[in-house]
Parts: sequence; C-alpha cells; structure tokens
Amino acid sequence: MASTESFQLEEAAAEAYEAKFVPAMFAEWAQQLVAAVGVSPGQRILDVACGTGIVARTAAEIAGAGAVTGVDINPAMLAVAARVRPEISWVQGDAAALPVQDGTFDVVLCQMALMFFPDAVAALREMCRAAVDGGTVAVAVPGRLEDQPGYGPFVELVSRHAGSGAMSVLGAYWACGDLEELKRLFAQAGFPEVESHTHIGKAKYSSAADFVAVEVESTPLMARLTEDQLASIHTEAAAVLQPFAEADGSLTVPLQGHLVLGHTSTGHGARQAG
Ligand SMILES: C[S@@+](CC[C@H](N)C(=O)[O-])C[C@H]1O[C@@H](n2cnc3c(N)ncnc32)[C@H](O)[C@@H]1O
Repeated sequence: MASTESFQLEEAAAEAYEAKFVPAMFAEWAQQLVAAVGVSPGQRILDVACGTGIVARTAAEIAGAGAVTGVDINPAMLAVAARVRPEISWVQGDAAALPVQDGTFDVVLCQMALMFFPDAVAALREMCRAAVDGGTVAVAVPGRLEDQPGYGPFVELVSRHAGSGAMSVLGAYWACGDLEELKRLFAQAGFPEVESHTHIGKAKYSSAADFVAVEVESTPLMARLTEDQLASIHTEAAAVLQPFAEADGSLTVPLQGHLVLGHTSTGHGARQAG
C-alpha cells in the first residue's frame, strides 16, 4: 500500500483547493470525523496532513483555536491555512516524523491523506506517539474505487484520455479503501482496538463543468493533463455524470469512505507493539 503520490499543489492550486474542493467534498467529512471522535472543549487536537485546514478549523469550533495544531508537508497548503485561520498553529512537517513531542494531543486526526503516505503504518505509529495515553487517533479515507458509482465512471473516462501520470494520482485516492486492510494497518501500528464507520458523503457541484474544475483543476491532476486531454474530459463529463444530475442541473455525487478510530491504551500499548 506504499504510495508514490503525495498530492502536492503549488500555491495557486492550493487556493483553488480551499475555494472549490474543500466546500464541494471535504467540509462534510471534517464534520463527520470530528463528530465520530466526539471532540470536546479543552482537548488538544492535532490535524495530520491538514492541507488548507478544514479539519483543524472544524475541531477548533469546539476545542478552541489555541488547542489545535495542523501539520502538513506542503508550505503552499499551510500558507492558505494560515491566511484563512491565523489563530491556529500551522507547522510544516512529515507525517512519518511529526514535529511534535510524545504524548501531547488528546485527539489526532488525519483526513483523506493516509493513502498518500509512503508508509501508512509508520505514519499511524507517529500519530500514536503524538497522542496521550487513552487518546484517540482517527483517520478518514475514501473507500474502494469499485464502491464509487460516480467517481468510478469518471476515473474510467479520465483513463481513456490521460497518460499514466494522471492515472497514478487518480489511482492513489482509493488505495486505502479496503476497510479490512485499513483495520489491519491499525493493528500493525499496534492499536489494541479499532472501531470503524462507513459513510456515504454527498459531494456537490453546480454542473459537470464545475465537477471537472473541482476534481481536475484544484488537484494535482491539472499538472498531468494536456489542454486537449482536459477538453476531451470536459466534453464527455456531462454524459458520464448524468445519473447524478438534479432537476436544476447541479450534481450530487456519492463519495463512500471510511472513518477508523484507534484508541491508545493506558501505558501506550499501541506504541510498544509492532
Ligand atoms: C487530499 S489532501 C487532504 C488535506 C486535508 N486533510 C483535507 O481534508 O482537506 C492531502 C494532503 O496530504 C498532504 N501530505 C501528503 N504527504 C504528506 C506527508 N508525508 N506528511 C504530511 N502531509 C502530507 C498533502 O500536502 C495534502 O495537503
């Protein structure tokens, strides 16, 4: 499950990610993740691979901005995060070597990023190290591509037009989508018990053109496609996405994904195992 894709964006694309991708898709998942954990006032929260910060901001609504830290490897994402919510602490760092002390956070969250880490188990061990005894590590990832009735046909459309670079990034999204395999990763990282929830999100787009703008133009796909390839994708997207059209022409596309929660045991059993 090692990834060679790490979802890297330049600053203009990071702004587009915040403006388009986050409201269309991931703001809903941040609410789900924070609710699943039951974040409460006074808890210290770490958001790993925070991107432009939607999970950190959502947790801060409950815990307070001063209790939340976001870490991401990409300074362009962090620059947008800091512009949007300067009161939160934003730190550059690698999920494989988090720049935080042992046992600092009550809750460690990681949304839609585990599949981009070269070693997911090592990253989960790091999240465990960052958590207090009795803390919670919670991850959200997209489910398997075969369980995505909207994104599956769109990936098939892109695969007909795009080169291997584009398919590499598109394929990476679903790489942690097998729930049993995901639970095994948590077990390998040493979590004594995990709980999981499968959720079907509703991604919203104003039109098929908007769908392509969000899914291609505010992601690393944009840099992997020629103008001709992008034009062909635009031309065919409306037909492929027709089953998800609402009466007003907007689209509601299901995104199936998993939330997995691991609890660090007193004595840091998760840390010692593996
Ligand atoms: C799809 S974005 C998700 C961002 C955010 N969690 C959200 O829900 O909007 C994936 C993020 O993972 C970050 N990332 C990828 N590899 C990383 C690593 N090794 N360490 C820290 N962040 C990483 C990328 O820079 C990017 O911001």
